[in-house]
Amino acid sequence: MFPTPSTTKLDRERVYEPAEDSFLFLDLLQEELPFLQTRFVTANSPAPLVVELGLGSGIVTTFFHKNILPDALFIGTDINPYACHISKETSKENGNTRYFDVLRTNLWDGLRPGLVDILLFNPPYVPDVVLPSIENAVKTDDWLDFALLGGPDGMQVTSVVLDRLAEILNPVRGVAYILFCRRNRPFEVAKSMRNRGWVVDMVDERKAGWEVLSVWKFTKS
Ligand SMILES: C[S@@+](CC[C@H](N)C(=O)[O-])C[C@H]1O[C@@H](n2cnc3c(N)ncnc32)[C@H](O)[C@@H]1O
Repeated sequence: MFPTPSTTKLDRERVYEPAEDSFLFLDLLQEELPFLQTRFVTANSPAPLVVELGLGSGIVTTFFHKNILPDALFIGTDINPYACHISKETSKENGNTRYFDVLRTNLWDGLRPGLVDILLFNPPYVPDVVLPSIENAVKTDDWLDFALLGGPDGMQVTSVVLDRLAEILNPVRGVAYILFCRRNRPFEVAKSMRNRGWVVDMVDERKAGWEVLSVWKFTKS
């Protein structure tokens, strides 16, 4: 069992505090270690590029960097400027100083298509009638709503990622891990992605209070 990274620099008023969803992600990455090593740690293959969308405190990327594939290259993105700052602090605090950088951007805007080997995303998945707006966040300097609110079905942001997955992932060895809650209807999503040629597997599921969270793996082969 790998230790959970410490996040003592976290400002809970401004950045998502690691919770059940984050910890589910850490556990499943540990379970996926044999698959990831077989797929990415082979003689003469280049170091994989790992991209986490919405990295928040940085706990997931820091865990991955330290324990799963330490020689990979890491980029994290977040729309929240405070998350971008804190995630670098979390990485440093846990001794990861190499091969990691952060982009403040919407999803993966600014990254060249087809280069991402491993995509991680714990999205804003909570259904809500409203979606947070950048204009409002800039005005109020409050970015926390971006952490959870996912529009009417909680899928507003995740759907964009799923629709564009083929664009961002390496076409041969790319793999994405994406978290859903039950109200996102993950089984229907999986069916529709399979119809679009993806291999889709649920890799972990956990009850968190009244919510059921699951993480799904998407590959082309
Ligand atoms: C549920 S939190 C997860 C944080 C962290 N990955 C974890 O597991 O603890 C979702 C994160 O996604 C970020 N986010 C939401 N919409 C985004 C977007 N369009 N582009 C980039 N980041 C976004 C939020 O600011 C927040 O940090």
